[in-house]
Amino acid sequence: PRKIIIDTDPGQDDAVAILLALGSPDEIDLLGITAVAGNVPVTRTSENARKVCEVAGRPDVKVFAGCDRPLAHDLVTAEHVHGKTGLDGIELPAPRMPLQVQHGVDFIIDTLRGEPAGTVTLCPMGPLTNIATAFQKAPDIIERVQEIVLMGGAYFEVGNITPAAEFNIYVDPEAAEIVFKSGAQITVMPLDVTHKVLVTKPRLEAFAAFGTHLGDVVAGWLDFFERFDIEKYGSAGGPLHDPTVIAYLIQPDLFSGRYINVEIETQSELTRGMTVADWWGVSGRKPNALFIGDADAEGFFALLTERLRAL
Ligand code: BDR
Ligand code: CA
Repeated sequence: PRKIIIDTDPGQDDAVAILLALGSPDEIDLLGITAVAGNVPVTRTSENARKVCEVAGRPDVKVFAGCDRPLAHDLVTAEHVHGKTGLDGIELPAPRMPLQVQHGVDFIIDTLRGEPAGTVTLCPMGPLTNIATAFQKAPDIIERVQEIVLMGGAYFEVGNITPAAEFNIYVDPEAAEIVFKSGAQITVMPLDVTHKVLVTKPRLEAFAAFGTHLGDVVAGWLDFFERFDIEKYGSAGGPLHDPTVIAYLIQPDLFSGRYINVEIETQSELTRGMTVADWWGVSGRKPNALFIGDADAEGFFALLTERLRAL
């Protein structure tokens, strides 16, 4: 199985991504979860990550708290999407499993230095603050990363927090710039692909139909979270962003994209956090990321329901 660190700001969709990873032990070896400030402050995201592990019956997973604010700006949160706790939709008890004492950034650094080079994949699903901070503090780890598979950015489907920017990149564009310029191998799940994996009513009901506690929890989360998108975009269901990262690692043939140049706008007030993605190769700039553009939505949900049912 592939060794990964999930870097996350749960978030109902982050939560489902964690469950998908825990439900796929043949393909995924989850070394730890680092929480970051994003959808809600890091005190909440680090608590939510532990709640998710407990829902999966996995209090042994190591969860670390990382950075509590973006590199250069005040934190922008998304309670309007995820609710006050970040994980609204179903009441869960306070976690009993401990939060690790080590800082999330140091866990990322130590893990990359401790494991053989090229064997650890980073899976960021929130603002890129922890990853960028680790790269700045310990540049030697960059070449040891196997791959970074992240959810963030957009090309045609621009803008879910401003007209030009996707939330994860918008919250910490300086961090995103460091990551995209790092030279690490990067695969990106932008809104263009996440807006193709919609939680329609039958797909939502499939989780509730498990007849398990976990199925009810997932249905509760997604019913809450998806409503926002359905009301806002008028689509048949809300996008399930972050689980695409894990699905890509398990079954890459569900996805297709292009290896292109992606630069991050950090200066302009109007377009801050925009991923300037050179899909047509017009800039002459060197490609630095595999930008995913399409997904097999049926195949994706078949995989997700199979793995979560078995948890
Ligand atoms: C991203 O923003 C967050 O609200 C979601 O969890 C996802 O990571 C989508 O723009
Ligand atoms: Ca997220």
